[in-house]
Amino acid sequence: MKSANRSKAEGGAVSASRKRKGSQRLPLQRTRPFVSATFAMTVDGKITTRDFTPVDFTSREDKQHLFRQRALADAVLIGHSTLKHDNPRLGISEDLRQKRIKRGLTPAPIRVIVSNEGRIDSQLKVFQWEVSPVLIFSTKRMPKEVRHALRERKAKVHLSETNNVDLRKILRILRRDYKVRRVACEGGPILFRSMLELGLIDELNLTIAPHLFGGANAPTLTGLSKEFLPASVKCVVKKMHVVGDECFLTYSIKARR
Ligand SMILES: NC(=O)c1ccc[n+]([C@@H]2O[C@H](COP(=O)([O-])OP(=O)(O)OC[C@H]3O[C@@H](n4cnc5c(N)ncnc54)[C@H](OP(=O)(O)O)[C@@H]3O)[C@@H](O)[C@H]2O)c1
Repeated sequence: MKSANRSKAEGGAVSASRKRKGSQRLPLQRTRPFVSATFAMTVDGKITTRDFTPVDFTSREDKQHLFRQRALADAVLIGHSTLKHDNPRLGISEDLRQKRIKRGLTPAPIRVIVSNEGRIDSQLKVFQWEVSPVLIFSTKRMPKEVRHALRERKAKVHLSETNNVDLRKILRILRRDYKVRRVACEGGPILFRSMLELGLIDELNLTIAPHLFGGANAPTLTGLSKEFLPASVKCVVKKMHVVGDECFLTYSIKARR
């Protein structure tokens, strides 16, 4: 599975001050960053197994593809459930780190976690590696002891007074306060769907891996929800290439903003 086992190939990097040159080609968003999501799915559209256990169904090339997408961004965004299940560090390899530095970027994208309940385990790998700053967006529901433990781990914790985080607002804060122009959203499906419904996804990188899982209880890109999206989302193919038995697609998402 994409994020779980892709994380095994992650490299570390050290954070530093930033100066940007490489963003000139990005569509400049005034109020929020450009958001590019990356997923792998089976031929029958499954992104993991029914019990969400890590399963390695993509190639090394696909894992490198995920890291390259991550390395293009100023911030990598992940849902709490994917963080828990896959336990990634969300870093990049040394060669990608060096390329960023040459382009005048920070060595690695900042790492952003969203959780409504805020019951985040401070022992997860993302907090053990000082690859880049970790930002957590959660709510007043986060238990006090968790807040304390995460701050001890040097994570920057943003808590809203609401019961659920506001994804639009998170993107605005990332743009305004952290100068983030491009976000690499690495799912999972619940987060992706929420962002899609709000018109917050601009691009989708999709790897089709040569497997079929079957079953109704393994999530697709938009999760397990039986509900239709409020409106169908138009995707336009921008790029497509095949490596071995895998197909790498990039779509532009034509959602309303
Ligand atoms: N194949 C792939 O490319 C790929 C990519 C990513 C993930 N995955 C797999 O997907 C599975 C997890 O996906 P998932 O869909 O269960 O979870 P997810 O999208 O990773 O995380 C959902 C969680 O994010 C938090 N959240 C906070 N605000 C949210 C909002 N507005 N909308 C949505 N979520 C919000 C909530 O955390 P709290 O519960 O803490 O409130 C929510 O339960 C894992 O098995 C992972 O391996 C596969």
